[in-house]
Amino acid sequence: ETIVKKRDFLGFQPLDAGKIIELFDFSAFIKAKRLDRTAASKYKPIEGKTVAMIFNKPSLRTRVSFELGIHELGGYAVNLDGKSIGVNSREAVEDIAQLLSRYNDAIVARLHEHSVIEDLAANATIPVINALTDLSHPCQILADAFTLYEKGLWKEGVKIVFVGDGNNVANSWIELAGILPFHFVLACPQNEEYMPDTTLLEEARRNSGSTIEIVHDPMEAAKNADVLYTDVWTSMGQEDEVAERLKAFSSYQINSAMLRQSKPSAVVMHCMPAHRGQEISAEVMDGPQSIIMDEAENRLHVQKALLVKLLNHEEYRKFHLTH
Ligand code: CP
Ligand code: NVA
Repeated sequence: ETIVKKRDFLGFQPLDAGKIIELFDFSAFIKAKRLDRTAASKYKPIEGKTVAMIFNKPSLRTRVSFELGIHELGGYAVNLDGKSIGVNSREAVEDIAQLLSRYNDAIVARLHEHSVIEDLAANATIPVINALTDLSHPCQILADAFTLYEKGLWKEGVKIVFVGDGNNVANSWIELAGILPFHFVLACPQNEEYMPDTTLLEEARRNSGSTIEIVHDPMEAAKNADVLYTDVWTSMGQEDEVAERLKAFSSYQINSAMLRQSKPSAVVMHCMPAHRGQEISAEVMDGPQSIIMDEAENRLHVQKALLVKLLNHEEYRKFHLTH
């Protein structure tokens, strides 16, 4: 008897470039299928499966896209508020992992410390999906890169300039740069606290054909960019640092002047939630070069593809054999 190792999605490490492109092609298939309501209603590749979702931080996109995605694929989502469970206070993470593995077929978790989701995955016998930790947000960057891919903007050496905080979202771009070759520039303030995770950075630089730069002049960085990307200046859990962050990031706004530095064909991205007048100006957020709502929508399609890959690998393989 062969024991198939369960698959988690905590980050991009288990994937290679080919597997990511496969996932994009399946995401495009899932997205197209949804346009035909009749066909979509008959496609239930995770029928009867249940997914426990633990949210220890607020969420709009991630929660709605996962819950809806699970429902559309024929599964059922159980929504859990991390605070009411009391992750590692009321209830040990090992016990949560073992118990949910008895009830469910997968766990989607949004937690603070990344080590807690690693513990969860290590103790669960079902797949665990990272729905954002303080370290990374792989589901987001998967949807973002898919958005560029479906628009034909994912070209060899594409220049993606991330302007702002070298936090979880930037870290996941760096992690992806360790797998798919592109030109990634992070323009962040020169302060340890706003720099990306050094382990992920070193690993990505070691593993890939990508150019990864960390710079501190956002206007210079934006030159010739294909993509300008940003995230909030104050992430969830950092609320008491708002004042100092507003100051530190004041010259890191994506606005028309910065956009003029980039290629005329450049697109603007933001993982959302967005704050017009802070990390992005209203005119750019709502302007013609913004593809922000497309990337937010794509969270749904990409995560559905991921769920099928993790929960019904047979179906996932079948698609790739026939397409
Ligand atoms: N981008 C994103 O993850 O949004 P939520 O925090 O609303 O889920
Ligand atoms: N960096 C942000 C991303 C939100 C999706 C945060 O952690 O709050």
